[in-house]
Amino acid sequence: MSADAETIRYHAATENSAAAVDLIDQTRLPAETVRLVCSTLPELHDAIVRLVVRGAPAIGIAAAYGVTLAPIDANASPAEVRQSYYEAIDYLATSRPTAVNLFWALDRMRGIVDAATDDAIGNLAQRLADEAIAIHEEDREMCRSMGRHGSALLTKCQTVLTHCNTGGLATSMYGTALAPIYFLHEKGHTLNVYADETRPLMQGARLTAWELAQAGVPVTVCTDSMAGGLMRDGKVDAVIVGSDRIAANGDVANKIGTYPLSVLARYHNVPFYVVAPTNTFDLELASGDLIPIEQRGEDEMRYTLGAESNIHANGRMAVPREAAVINPAFDVTPAELVTAIVTELGVIESPNVERVRQHFAAS
Ligand code: MRU
Repeated sequence: MSADAETIRYHAATENSAAAVDLIDQTRLPAETVRLVCSTLPELHDAIVRLVVRGAPAIGIAAAYGVTLAPIDANASPAEVRQSYYEAIDYLATSRPTAVNLFWALDRMRGIVDAATDDAIGNLAQRLADEAIAIHEEDREMCRSMGRHGSALLTKCQTVLTHCNTGGLATSMYGTALAPIYFLHEKGHTLNVYADETRPLMQGARLTAWELAQAGVPVTVCTDSMAGGLMRDGKVDAVIVGSDRIAANGDVANKIGTYPLSVLARYHNVPFYVVAPTNTFDLELASGDLIPIEQRGEDEMRYTLGAESNIHANGRMAVPREAAVINPAFDVTPAELVTAIVTELGVIESPNVERVRQHFAAS
């Protein structure tokens, strides 16, 4: 992606300016490439809630930087400084419930606050900024590794189908499920990609198609309901998706519509791959039944996207007022329907509780 399209940038505090988190506004893509600069905690919280920044790893990175936006009184005692940062962490943790990367990143930031002694309180802001930058950097490396490991599974494929957006826009760069596709493209093996449009917020049509096209990867947008027909016609060699949270037994939460894809893939004997960094695993949850599923607002269902792709601004009514709507943002795919999970450490074939445990034990 071009520098203009860099998903998250951080402007460190200087003598003359406060810190700011600078985001590509994903609600405006693909019609406009504009950025939103957040210099307060409520602005960043709102940006995560509204999906200005979205995708599990990107949410974690943005929130980590967001902690540095906590308002700190120049005369505050060390205890008050720590308290302000704890409040910022707790507040950012309320932005979205499903992607565990958010809580993982905020826990890292909490660890820095916990470790700050009274004597070192003057350096805490810098240490928090350094930690957020480290989280961002590490994500870049993890994406590269996932690309490398995942590419080995796709060498015989010509066409893959993906769901939602799992590329550079959802991470620091490169992505999770799109990483193997970019990796192979760089090596001269260009796959054709079917991008499910991903209703109701159209992350596939708006974001995946946009970033793959920019990278020169041939992409065809299909409605979510076309996937079965495409598989039946033998047009899909593999399904590859990301995840927002993976339980200890390998059950995978991902964007709503992922579970039916896994069922279709199994029926049609198409491999179903999940690509996610290890910080997407929540080993405290025994199964996917325990993963909290975000329920989003009714308007996302009731109105079409707005005329300027600004989600729902000026949207047209799409559902009669008399009808109820439901809008769960994610669903859970049981591990038994997953052919393999790819992390930055390698590949977990036919995931189950024992294989997930071994994967982490070997690291
Ligand atoms: O609601 P979103 O757009 O944040 O959902 C994103 C997804 O479901 C992605 O597939 C997921 O975060 C995994 S990959 C980066």
